[in-house]
Amino acid sequence: MFAKLVAVSLLTLASSQLMAAECSVDVDSTDQMSFNTKEITIDKSCKTFTVNLAHSGSLPKNVMGHNWVLSKAADAPGIATDGLAAGIDKNYLKDGDTRVIAHTKIIGAGEKDSVSFDVSKLTAGETYQFFCSFPGHISMMKGAVTLK
Ligand code: CO
Repeated sequence: MFAKLVAVSLLTLASSQLMAAECSVDVDSTDQMSFNTKEITIDKSCKTFTVNLAHSGSLPKNVMGHNWVLSKAADAPGIATDGLAAGIDKNYLKDGDTRVIAHTKIIGAGEKDSVSFDVSKLTAGETYQFFCSFPGHISMMKGAVTLK
């Protein structure tokens, strides 16, 4: 009887862990101007979502800097272009750019930065993109963000 109760409790625990949505993702970036993912899916049951950005390369941020920027896909090229003039101290993002939904700072080799944002800022069915706004990087460093 006792053993059966324990077994049922363990099963319940296991299934509740399976049901819980993952509300964060680890993203790595490299000296090859790349992210290790091309698609991030956010479960709509998440209230906030966290992106943990790392840089596993060996180049400093002024040479091979990376950030993680989230916007509507249609806004991404304009954000990157306007970010050029902002410079590295502003993370290559224009001050007060309201098209930016969330972003980390620019990091270099061995550094990390995280950003959390309110999932209610996203609309199901809209096309979102993540990218790096370091000059020239958006062509290779981008991917889709989908709310499901
Ligand atoms: Co980059």
